[in-house]
Amino acid sequence: MSITSFNGGQPQSARPKVTTLTIQEKKQRREPITCLTAYDYATSRLVDEAGIDMILVGDSLAQVVLGYENTLPVTMEEMLHHTRAVRRAVKRALVIADMPFGSYHDDTKEGVRNAVRFVKEAGAEAVKLEGGQKRVELVERVLDAEIPVMGHIGLTPQSVNKMGGFKVQGKDLAGIEQLIKDAIALDRAGVFSIVLEGVPREVAAMITAEVNAPTIGIGAGPECDGQVLVFHDILNLTFAPKAKFVRRYADAAALIRGAVEQFKSDVEAGSYPSDEESYHLPRETKAELETLLLRKVAVGR
Ligand code: KIV
Repeated sequence: MSITSFNGGQPQSARPKVTTLTIQEKKQRREPITCLTAYDYATSRLVDEAGIDMILVGDSLAQVVLGYENTLPVTMEEMLHHTRAVRRAVKRALVIADMPFGSYHDDTKEGVRNAVRFVKEAGAEAVKLEGGQKRVELVERVLDAEIPVMGHIGLTPQSVNKMGGFKVQGKDLAGIEQLIKDAIALDRAGVFSIVLEGVPREVAAMITAEVNAPTIGIGAGPECDGQVLVFHDILNLTFAPKAKFVRRYADAAALIRGAVEQFKSDVEAGSYPSDEESYHLPRETKAELETLLLRKVAVGR
C-alpha cells in the first residue's frame, strides 16, 4: 500500500500533523479552523483523511452513539474507550477528548487525574471542559500537567438542568458580560482554543476579536475563528429535529436504510450470496470428494 493511500491521495509531507500551535497560528493567519466530532475508528479515519484540523471525541457520544437524552450519563470509561478507537484511526488531526460530566466538577485534583488518563490511557492530545471563570484554577492545573485545554462556554450541555434546557446564552446585557468575562478568564488561563456554543453571532464576534485563543463556534455565527459540528448531525444520523445551525451535507440515514433493505430483500429472494460471492473447493479436492461420494454410493448399492 502506498503512503498516499492513507491520506486522501496527498503526500504525507503536504499535510503535517496538526498541533495546538497549528491551531493558534491559523487564527493569526486568519485561516478558518475546522473541527468535527467523531467517536469510532471508521468515521475518525474518514474525517482525518478529509483533512479536518481537529477531531473532538465529544461527550455528545452520550446522545448520538449511546442513545441517552443528554450528555450527563456518559462515563470516563466510555469516553476513554471511544477516544482510544479514534486515536488508532487518526494520523494528522489534533485529537481532543471531552471531559464528561462529573469527571472534573468535584475537585481539581480529580479533574487533573482524569485529564491525565485521557492522555496516558487513550492518546488524546488535549482535553475540553465546560465552563468559564469558575474553571480557571482547573485549567491552570491541567496545563501544569502539560495537557492543552480547550474551553467551552455559552450553551454548555452539561449545565442543561441549571440552564433549564438547551438555550442560547448571552441574549441580554448581563449574559453578554458574563460570557465575555468567561472568555477572557479562559484566555488568560492559557486555553489553546474556546468553543462558543449557542451564542448570538454578534457576541461571538466580539469575543473572537477580544481573545488570543481561537474561537470555535457551534451555533455562534461565521465570525468565529473556526467551526465545529457533530458528525452525526451533518449526515442526518441523529433522529432528532435539525437545529437552526446544523447544515446537512448528506443523508446517511437514507443511504443506510436503502442498503439494509436491499440486503434483506436479496437474502429473502435467494439472490445473495451469488456463486461469485461464494468460496469454492480447489479443483483436485473437488474431484477427490466426488470420487469418494461415488464410491460410497456404489458400496451402499
Ligand atoms: O460533545 C460535543 O459534541 C461538543 C461539541 C458540540 C462542541 O461539545
